[in-house]
Amino acid sequence: MINSTLNQQFRQQFPFFSNEQSWTYLDSAATTLKPEILLKATDEFYRSAGSVHRSQYDLAQTEAYEQARDLVKQRFNIEDRKAVIWTSGTTHSINIVAHGIENQIQADDEIVVSIAEHHANFIPWQQLAERTGAKLIVLPVNCKFLLESDRLQQALSPRTKLVAFNLVSNVTGVHQNAQQLISTIRQHSSAKIMLDVAQAVCCEKVDIQALDADFYAFSAHKMYGPTGIGVLTGKLTSLEQLSPLFFGGKMLQNVTESQLTLAELPYRLEAGTPNIAGIIGFSKVLEWLNQWDFVELNKHLYQLAECVKTRLRTYPEIELISNDEISPTISFLFKNQHHADIAAILAEKNIALRVGEHCAKPYLRHLEKTGTLRISLAHYNNQQDIEQFFEGLNFALEILAD
Ligand SMILES: Cc1ncc(COP(=O)(O)O)c(C=O)c1O
Repeated sequence: MINSTLNQQFRQQFPFFSNEQSWTYLDSAATTLKPEILLKATDEFYRSAGSVHRSQYDLAQTEAYEQARDLVKQRFNIEDRKAVIWTSGTTHSINIVAHGIENQIQADDEIVVSIAEHHANFIPWQQLAERTGAKLIVLPVNCKFLLESDRLQQALSPRTKLVAFNLVSNVTGVHQNAQQLISTIRQHSSAKIMLDVAQAVCCEKVDIQALDADFYAFSAHKMYGPTGIGVLTGKLTSLEQLSPLFFGGKMLQNVTESQLTLAELPYRLEAGTPNIAGIIGFSKVLEWLNQWDFVELNKHLYQLAECVKTRLRTYPEIELISNDEISPTISFLFKNQHHADIAAILAEKNIALRVGEHCAKPYLRHLEKTGTLRISLAHYNNQQDIEQFFEGLNFALEILAD
């Protein structure tokens, strides 16, 4: 039985539903809607003054700012608050790693990356390989969209310096067996491991220490937080080996005309004035998230996702780009209609979903698709959203059949 009261209470926290009543939002994998608490915290910050960690006076809520690090540490079971590094998002986090390990990579070393990646976890490795002369090895997925430990093991060698893959794909919603893959890497190489958890953080409390990768990246805006804030985290010892991508204020212990001594983590990787409003806003969102029963909210969410998948399967010309897993992200195609035509009609009906290559061109090419339609649900979606989507879809298919 779906707990619709809790879902309704959760939904009420999002001003979008009263401001944009004519819209159905099914694009949460791109970015989630924002709760009132975030708007309030951001508004309060901008009505006040000052920076953080810079002056004797403190109008700028340095405490709330620093508390955010502890809240992230607790939520994701991170070994130390020093290992929570603020970035502008997943893309920035991964680029910090790709630049930060450059001096550990030589020509003829190897970098292994899965084909199932968002550009943010593909291009930085491709470009690192190009800059250093290292070889980029691209790992395919099997017919269930999963990376295979055997294939991974074959790709590893004593020259493998880094392996990168995602926990959940933004294209298919498929969840990789990260624990098994990481254990294969640990057994057969000394490579560093980069895990892109951007699509996992909304629906699961990713356990950073249990997973045992070196680096993790995610964005606050995909878990009800603000845009322009992300986290790079992982093992303190691995993060400490990264040379900074940016140089400037607050990342140093001392600087003379000829010498720089770096500050400790996290500050050495956080040069410049941070996105204070974003971090304070995220802090409040994390506190607020802790108040909700996500076991119940997830039950509701996964039942909705199952309902969508079951109903989509009844269309004769449909191709679902997924395996048997139930995921809040569902990609599909109609064999007899172009995905962009369907999306255009749905947009006219005020149904927001994603269409196209999902910032994953190499993956789409590997799947031999030019694009897909993608619904992505979050905890605020309800049965009415689903009914509106199917009504819109049936309308689009009828029009296109004429
Ligand atoms: C799996 C995955 N990785 C990385 C990113 C990039 O995130 P951002 O644009 O917030 O840096 C996204 C965004 O959609 C994503 O889905």
